[in-house]
Amino acid sequence: MALRQVRIAPDDILNKKSRPVAVIDDKIKELVADMLETMYATEGVGLAAVQIGVLKRIFVIDMSDDGTDPIVVINPEILHSEGTQEEMEACLSVPNLSGKVTRPAIVVIKALDEDGIEYEMECDGFLAVAMCHELDHLDGILYDSRASQMYEESEDDRQKRKAQRRAKNKGTKASRRKRR
Ligand code: NI
Repeated sequence: MALRQVRIAPDDILNKKSRPVAVIDDKIKELVADMLETMYATEGVGLAAVQIGVLKRIFVIDMSDDGTDPIVVINPEILHSEGTQEEMEACLSVPNLSGKVTRPAIVVIKALDEDGIEYEMECDGFLAVAMCHELDHLDGILYDSRASQMYEESEDDRQKRKAQRRAKNKGTKASRRKRR
């Protein structure tokens, strides 16, 4: 495993569309492992492959406080979305800023995991926000282009935002239905 460098806006690659993964081989598994390591090292809750310079439709998310609930998302599709919610978002590729974005309240996604097994997952709360934010990365869209308001954020503000999210996030639904 290796730590990868996170690309920072306005790096052009962040605006490019990622391509589907054709075969999940050892190289892809290594990439996923590197993405998880990089996400944990940078204290992100999500990281898309494009953010480390790889234009493949892969992202990882971990909403837990202690890095024990990694979700690997390859070639995702949104099957269903409903409602709206407005949340504060931030992005490792857009440092020292946060912004208010409206997203669906619930999304159901279909994707492959790192073993190539297809699953569906119904997400609400901040997990739904994170899924939409990361999916946007795969299409070259950064959240600031969707934000109604952007704010400068100090390290203190960042910790406060994370604490608020943790409090709000209790009870968030991630019902995973895996099938082969
Ligand atoms: Ni991001």
